Amino acid sequence: GGQGTRIAVVGCGYVGLVAAVCFAEIGHSVICVDNDAAKIRALQAGQIPIHEEHLAELLALQSSASLRFTTSIAEAVRASDAVFIAVGTPPLDNGHADLSFIEEVAAEISGAIDSYKVIVEKSTVPVYTSDWISKILRRNGVDPSAADVVSNPEFLREGTAVRDFLCPDRIIVGTCSDQAFRVMTSIYGPLLDGSYYRRRASADFLSHNPTAPPLVRTSPASAELIKHASNAFLALKISYVNTIASMCEIAGADVDEVAHGMGLDRRIGQQFLSAGLGYGGSCFPKDLKAFRSLGHEMGVDVALLREVERINERQIDGFMGKIRSIMWNLRNKKLAVLGLAFKGGTDDVRESPAIKLVRQLLAEGCEIVAFDPAAMTTARRVLPEEGISYVDNALDAMNDADALLVLTDWPEFREIDPQAMKVQLAQPIVFDARNLLDRELMMQRGFTYVSIGRPAVEECEEPVALRRRA
Ligand code: UDX
Repeated sequence: GGQGTRIAVVGCGYVGLVAAVCFAEIGHSVICVDNDAAKIRALQAGQIPIHEEHLAELLALQSSASLRFTTSIAEAVRASDAVFIAVGTPPLDNGHADLSFIEEVAAEISGAIDSYKVIVEKSTVPVYTSDWISKILRRNGVDPSAADVVSNPEFLREGTAVRDFLCPDRIIVGTCSDQAFRVMTSIYGPLLDGSYYRRRASADFLSHNPTAPPLVRTSPASAELIKHASNAFLALKISYVNTIASMCEIAGADVDEVAHGMGLDRRIGQQFLSAGLGYGGSCFPKDLKAFRSLGHEMGVDVALLREVERINERQIDGFMGKIRSIMWNLRNKKLAVLGLAFKGGTDDVRESPAIKLVRQLLAEGCEIVAFDPAAMTTARRVLPEEGISYVDNALDAMNDADALLVLTDWPEFREIDPQAMKVQLAQPIVFDARNLLDRELMMQRGFTYVSIGRPAVEECEEPVALRRRA
């Protein structure tokens, strides 16, 4: 400790916690604040409240001098030169982001400012939020020369958050102040000059051959827009490929081949072109709504964004239709479900398409046996108790089920032996909402196999009794 910049991070949620641990990891002394005393006590004891690869390992590497946890904003602000605001911005009923936590925190920070501070907004916020933060500071008696506000949006994904933070594609710093810009440059210095990557050469929490990210200086308004515009664009890519998938199904084409062929054009790129049940999670649905509300308020035509959302909402119904077309009646059908979180690699079930689908299936009278490698505890909290049970592994879920539904992209689902599946299932019927399984193989093994944007493999001719013994 003692070296680097003294940093406070307000808010121990996903973004705050990852940022705090990673800032300590690259050489700063960090105090992380949250008003949830139980959470702080757990963190002080080395327990991480979220499921995130490498985070616990990285937390354990930090000394008590380089990373501390407290419930006092005032204490954290006084002990730091830069204060990152990473509190939640939950959606209001009208779709706008609720910025009241940001305002409360800004007011509390104001009262503790005793020397020059850089106040950094890291939460995803609408444009002009940094102006509002500046105003709140001034209204609370902070001299304009005593603090500058910077917008430094975070682009990390759940499941790969540590790597995304330490090996970002770019670092955006939106500020009008040269002094604040210098502080930000030194905070990210170990990434910008590559020295951190050399120090931790080939650590498994870094990407393979990490390269120093570019730092882009913008106005605060541009930085705020970059975050929302990027997320909306990624959501747009997903809805786009889901539309193409529907066309592929009718044309007898394969959306994975189409997406691969498209993605080789460097202007398009391979990523975020996987068809599926649509996007979920704590960011895309909320951010898109907030961005659309913002655009609407500005008088800008945001029909494009509305369409992205509508396509996304329709994906669940489309998949329900596929299930019905093979299963006929759903009442009393026993279905094995693999994957409950909003994607693989996480325990987060917020806005999970899998949860939405399971709710509909339960409402139709299906019996569900579910397995998720990380998200069963979180799923239990949001799903009705009636009609669903949980098991400890994928094969147990399939035992005597009328069909298997693969709903998230956990790599381990891909490893399940089709022969073992066939032995377990009452009927060799598989619905694969993430195109995770090998279609050719499923076909060879005699499965009825329905995926997204690829020709369905129809029921084989053998009698059910023979197939079961195969
Ligand atoms: C996202 C952004 O990627 C990240 O930059 C931002 O900071 C926060 O929001 P995250 O919510 O963790 O991150 O999930 P991400 O991996 O981006 O996936 C979002 C959703 O889109 C998931 O439901 C995922 O299954 C879905 N998705 C993603 C697809 O359906 N197809 C794809 O090709 C990619």
